[in-house]
Amino acid sequence: MSDSTVPKIVLLPGDGIGPEIAAAVVEVLERLGDFEFDTRLMGGCSIDESGVALTDEVLEACKASDAVLLGAVGGPKWDTTDPDAPRPEQGLLGLRAGMGLFANLRPVRPVPALADASPLREEIIRGTDLLVVRELTGGIYFGKRGRDGDTAYDTCEYSVAEVERIARVGFAAARRGVTSVDKANVLESSRLWRETVNRVHQEEFPNVILDHLLVDNAAMQLVAEPSKFDVILTENLFGDILSDEAAMITGSIGLLPSASLGEDGLPGLFEPVHGSAPDIAGQGIANPFAMFLSAAMMLRHGLSMPDQASALESSVDRAVADGIRTRDLGGQATTAEATEAVLTRLD
Ligand code: IPM
Ligand code: MG
Repeated sequence: MSDSTVPKIVLLPGDGIGPEIAAAVVEVLERLGDFEFDTRLMGGCSIDESGVALTDEVLEACKASDAVLLGAVGGPKWDTTDPDAPRPEQGLLGLRAGMGLFANLRPVRPVPALADASPLREEIIRGTDLLVVRELTGGIYFGKRGRDGDTAYDTCEYSVAEVERIARVGFAAARRGVTSVDKANVLESSRLWRETVNRVHQEEFPNVILDHLLVDNAAMQLVAEPSKFDVILTENLFGDILSDEAAMITGSIGLLPSASLGEDGLPGLFEPVHGSAPDIAGQGIANPFAMFLSAAMMLRHGLSMPDQASALESSVDRAVADGIRTRDLGGQATTAEATEAVLTRLD
């Protein structure tokens, strides 16, 4: 945490549409309060500049901030299967590990006005209000990997302590209950996961309803009956996959924010769930709503400004309800028009 009373936000616009939605969110935040923005390179843009996706200097700036707000990283320019070439995603993974961001929160709440944008029928998605709590610094993403002759391997490891701390986040966030998702019928790491989640439940959160689902079954239930889920608590890779699947319940990944949090008091990282959309970059038509909602999560979880967070969320909701739609939502609004619509509703 920085000492000054003006919150210090490290802004990482990133690649593709990242800089466009980052500019839009600065406009919106400036309407809500005083913030100091420190804009830095991370992702493909950083590779172009310095050969690595995340420099030590940028990581240190992020650690010394009050919160980090990220646009999106990646693009075809840096796509490669060469194991030695730098990749934009390494910047994101480096931030997660370097800042200790073990808890990733991805709320999924369909906007009634957009019910027709979901590929699922309205009666299936009605009433859905769930939160994916994804473990973010362990598992196969960070296990030993390599190549051995013509073989390649990645390993999935979890310690009891890693499962305990994410389980606590999941139980604490529950309103109705927690569904812990694993593959305990096959994987040893999943058996440790399930055993540990059960123990934390019994010892610390006995009043929360807990059930367990195998990940294949969870993937099916998520589209069959999404409204029955409250918190989905899961490990890194399963959470990556299930959160994209859950995004389609809303019909647009362009509306989903996320928060990545570490230990209490340390800065978190806030970013839209969507990617850098290189195909529409630079055209001024990117949907800034998920970025605005990510900024709202930052205000609530990172900067203790819950009133400003609610005001921003409700302005986005009302803009969408009033028919302000970017192309991905089936409309014609530009980034500037969508931003203006939210600013007008904030005032
Ligand atoms: C996400 C993304 C990342 C992940 C990629 C970009 C490394 O898909 O945040 O879900 O797999 O975690
Ligand atoms: Mg993903």
